[in-house]
Amino acid sequence: MDHIAQLPPSYRSPDPRRVLVLGATGTIGRATVRALLRRGHQVVCLVRPRAGVGGALTPDKSVELLKGATVRFGDVTDPRSLREGFRGQRFDALVSCLASRTGLPRDAWAIDHQAHVNALAAAKDSGVSQMVLLSAICVQKPLLAFQHAKLAFESILMQSGLTYSIVRPTAFFKSLSGQISRLKQGKPFVVFGDGTATACKPIGDDDLAHYLAECLDDTRRHNRILPIGGPGDAITPRQQGEHLFALLGRTPQFKHVPVALLDVVARTLGGLGRVVPSLAGKAELARIGRYYATESMLVLDPVSGRYDADATPSVGSETLFDFYARLIKGEVETERGDHAVF
Ligand SMILES: NC(=O)c1ccc[n+]([C@@H]2O[C@H](COP(=O)([O-])OP(=O)(O)OC[C@H]3O[C@@H](n4cnc5c(N)ncnc54)[C@H](OP(=O)(O)O)[C@@H]3O)[C@@H](O)[C@H]2O)c1
Repeated sequence: MDHIAQLPPSYRSPDPRRVLVLGATGTIGRATVRALLRRGHQVVCLVRPRAGVGGALTPDKSVELLKGATVRFGDVTDPRSLREGFRGQRFDALVSCLASRTGLPRDAWAIDHQAHVNALAAAKDSGVSQMVLLSAICVQKPLLAFQHAKLAFESILMQSGLTYSIVRPTAFFKSLSGQISRLKQGKPFVVFGDGTATACKPIGDDDLAHYLAECLDDTRRHNRILPIGGPGDAITPRQQGEHLFALLGRTPQFKHVPVALLDVVARTLGGLGRVVPSLAGKAELARIGRYYATESMLVLDPVSGRYDADATPSVGSETLFDFYARLIKGEVETERGDHAVF
């Protein structure tokens, strides 16, 4: 491929390998497939026949999206289908960006945990000796079902005998961009409390993908849990809003939502959810919302119990504010997830 040939030699993997990728159709999965291909790896993706948000990707669209990789169709929740994805062939590594799209307990345990357990077994049978797992920094303080599901698999992977890299990133750009269309309509920026109680070091999709791809070769990242953020200082929600208003040429205008309101919503839905099962899911989404409204996406100091921006490694080059500028100019788009809050 021409673009690979043009890359500096240091960018290419010194040891190109055969890699099976799970979660290739997600935000970070797509970028990771591109990063792996650029590094010269041979990539096979296992995706479901209707992929993407709301099943918007037909098989042809997935093949187009993942150009340069081999795309196979299957069901990661079915151990036999997973094995068929490997087709009895030899692979060197498994890279997973697979994650429940809803974060709801049943989905999280089926995908973030069980599908990974099954994939690990199939991978071992195919000769895989290394796995790179995309996790999340928030599992360091697990209060939610999906965090426990992720941790349960992390623990299995660490005991598996495979060389592993568990990458726990901070917030993604897409998760911090949901209010732009509201602001363009003249509405205020919504913050919980005064918007300064939490902070994160956002990381760009391509920077994270590049980091994940490098984990295959960089022995300093082997057999480690790797919390990472993007470049620059930690940013609060209020600073995000202020920057967006500056880019839009508007006077900052904030709407303050008390965190206690989220508590009331979560508690009420939780109570009703015992009677009406569909409300139990909404209660979990309210708990997820409360978690992100009150916890920073930074490394947590286990002794002080405080979030520590300086202890959160910065990688990559694209900042959230670079991304906001490109988003407002229409140069990029974000794909809102199935459980977007704003
Ligand atoms: N959002 C953030 O700010 C943030 C921050 C730190 C860490 N993280 C973590 O990063 C990870 C990936 O995030 P992302 O935004 O790239 O996720 P995403 O866009 O929601 O993609 C999830 C991937 O998993 C696949 N998947 C989900 N359910 C599936 C199922 N039942 N069967 C087959 N495939 C399934 C999806 O396939 P389909 O296309 O077929 O649905 C997709 O490829 C998550 O673990 C998340 O917790 C997120």
